[in-house]
Parts: sequence; structure tokens; C-alpha cells
Amino acid sequence: MERLPGFRDFYPEPLPHTDVWSAAARQYIFAKWREIARRYNFCEYDGPPLEPLELFTTKSGDEIIGQLYNFTDKGGRQIALRPEMTPTLARMAAAHERQYKKPFKWFAIPQLFRYERQQKGRLREHFQFNADIIGESEPAADAELIALLIDTLCSFGLTRADFIIRLSSRNAWQQFFEAKGTAPEKAPASAAYEFFQVIDKLERVPAEETGKKLGALGFSLAEVNQFIESGHPTPELENIVQNLAARGLRDFVKIDYRVIRGLAYYTGVVFEAFDCQGEFRAIAGGGRYDNLVKLMSGGKVDLPALGFGMGDVVLLELLRARKLLPAFDSGLDVFILIEDEKFRPASLKLVQDLRSAGAAVEYSLMPAKPDKQFKRAQELKASFTAKMENHSTVRVRNLKSREEQVLAPAEIGRILHH
Ligand code: HAM
Repeated sequence: MERLPGFRDFYPEPLPHTDVWSAAARQYIFAKWREIARRYNFCEYDGPPLEPLELFTTKSGDEIIGQLYNFTDKGGRQIALRPEMTPTLARMAAAHERQYKKPFKWFAIPQLFRYERQQKGRLREHFQFNADIIGESEPAADAELIALLIDTLCSFGLTRADFIIRLSSRNAWQQFFEAKGTAPEKAPASAAYEFFQVIDKLERVPAEETGKKLGALGFSLAEVNQFIESGHPTPELENIVQNLAARGLRDFVKIDYRVIRGLAYYTGVVFEAFDCQGEFRAIAGGGRYDNLVKLMSGGKVDLPALGFGMGDVVLLELLRARKLLPAFDSGLDVFILIEDEKFRPASLKLVQDLRSAGAAVEYSLMPAKPDKQFKRAQELKASFTAKMENHSTVRVRNLKSREEQVLAPAEIGRILHH
């Protein structure tokens, strides 16, 4: 039986094949995400992996709708596997916002599903670190979120030489769009949406095709390019840049109006994180979506919001390419050697006591030759081996320093922590 295309098996280290993913690397990434979220006082939430289809058809945009895994459940409901977290967050925030002091800062690590064409950095399932701030419309919140994004990437050992945050604003594009007027036969909102879609694909679609599409909307490619090159920051962007400069993070961002984001719900500042060598697709993307909570609550709750999502797939590929993934050891503290089977009961008691004291302990389940047991201890990179010498003493060996001590079983805990 084969797994589905675009889905991953996560195996324990050492990995059996280049075609599989590391469960240890995944855990390493999740732990860092949680650690940096904690430093910024973001609280963890989660929602269901299955949602009513309608949640995503309302405002995610055509691209994501085309990629939905959806079906009718046994109760006749229209269901979709979540392709992104933001609509769920908007629903959850609207339902209980009164119980939380504004602004609230929440994060989640959902697994998301999109029926995309499989390619480098693009699978049909990925995990995504989502960090969002609800209830603050000032640029101070955007800066806080972008600082979190920068620090998260830096926590993996990436530096300014490895990545850049491209900062943009739909407000700037909206003004540009309105100043030029629009194709008269189209409703302004849908024309603006179409225009944003063309800008979103500037870097992926041939110039000729883009020129045609822009022409139909009343624009020329030249004037669009000129606007991008001018790169003049809007007041909100200027404010964010100053805020980041005060933290010493100015160099990590650049104004780049080529970024506009594909999802339909963004309303203002938008940004994406890219590797500097341009080898990969965006590592992360996000922005403001000040109308989504209102939309999801049928107009009952109106809260400004912003956030970003960072996928595990691109991040892992980038860390691997820059050789920034650590070696994943078992983290074993003690391997108990049972060379004489008559000491097995006493050894099992020692295993139990050490585990109760919090140590990671391994031993041979079945009788085995001493050299085999020792080899296993080395393979597992155990810090110590311990062997009952008689019923009241244990010989403990530090595998790094090779120092040996003979101790009473109760004394071992003491040396483990040195
Ligand atoms: P997104 O740009 O669709 O944004 O996804 C964010 C990141 O998730 C991408 O930059 C990419 O690294 C990763 N990603 C997306 N799709 C795939 C895929 N098929 N395979 C592997 N990685 C993928 C959102 O989803 C927004 N909801 C983020 C957000 C949160 N905006 C505000 N709050």
C-alpha cells in the first residue's frame, strides 16, 4: 500500500530513506515555534481539522477554493478539510472575544490540506505556525507580529544573509488603483480583486500575459512597474519600519510592492518572508484582515486582526540546504547493562527508579552479550552506562569522560545531573 501523493510519512531517526520525513525534525521545529511564541506572550489555541465548507468559500479566495478537499458527510453536510487556519480563528475569536482582553495574541500549529499540484515546497498537507493579533488596528501590532516572524526564523540559526521580509500594503495598491480609475463595465470591488490577483502573480506569469490582463483593467505594465520601483512607503509602513528599527531589526525588512498576497481577505499591510538566494517559495506570509471577523460573525463582532502563517515544508528544506538542522540524538541519559541475568530484577528496579526520577533510561529487554549491549548504549549516545555489580552497588560510567564510579543505587540520580 502506497501513501497518497503529496502526503508525508514521518519516521524516527535515523531515517531509513531519503523519501521520508523526520519526526524528530518536525518536533524540533514545533518546539522552536512554541518557544518563540511564548517569548512574545502568544497563547496556543486549536480548532477542528474539518469545518463546514462554507467557512472557506466565504472569503479565502478562488485559489484556495479550487484546492479544497471537500465532501458530503454521512449527515449530508458539506465539509472541507481546513486548507488554512485564519477563517477558523476568525470564527473562534468572534464567538468568545468578550472573555479576552484586547488585543489578544494567539498561535496554533495546525495541519492543513490543499489539493495542489505537488512540487518543491508544495505538498497536499503541511503544518503551519499561525500567529495572529486580534483587536488592535495600530501599526504597533503589525511591527510586533513581524518582529515575532523575524525572531522565529533567527531562532533556527538563520540570519539576515539568509532571509528577508518583503513588506507591502494593499492600501498603497488600492490608492494606486483608485487614482487611475477602473474599467467602467466592472464593479469596482471585483475589478480591484482581479487587479490584486494580477499583481500577486507578477513574478510567476509571463510579462506579455500580465500586460494583457492589466490592459483589460485599464492599466499598463509600465506604470505598474514604475509604482513598484518607486517603493514609497505609506505612513503605516513607515511607522512599522521605525518600530522595527528601534528593536534593531530594520535590516530584516524591505518595502516591496510586488507582494500583495493571494488570499482575498487581506485589507492593509501584507508581507512575505523569502530566502535571499531565491531558491524557495515564500517561507511565510501574512497581513491585516480587518474585516474578516465581522464577516464571519454576520456583522455581530467587528475586530481588526492580523497574522501570518509559516509552513514547515519550506522551512525544513531551507534549514536542510543551509545545514542548520542539528543532529537528532536519542537524548538517552543511562543505558543499564545487564551482563549477569541474576541481576535482572535488581536492574529492573534501578530502571524504574531512574525513570521515576525523570531520567531517560534504556536496557536490553532480552539477554544479550555484554559487547552488544555496550554497542547499543554507544549507538544511542547514552551519557552513562550503569551496571549492578552486586545487589547493593552499581558501576556507573560516563561515556564521554570515561570516568567510572561505584555507587549505591540511590546515589546515581546525583551524578546524572552533572
Ligand atoms: P499562505 O500564504 O497560504 O497563508 O501560507 C503560508 C505559508 O504556508 C506559505 O508561505 C508556505 O510556506 C506554506 N504553505 C502554504 N501552502 C503550502 C503547501 N501546499 N505545501 C507546503 N507549504 C505550504 C495562509 O495560509 C494564511 N492563512 C496565513 C495567515 C495567518 N494570514 C493571517 N494569519
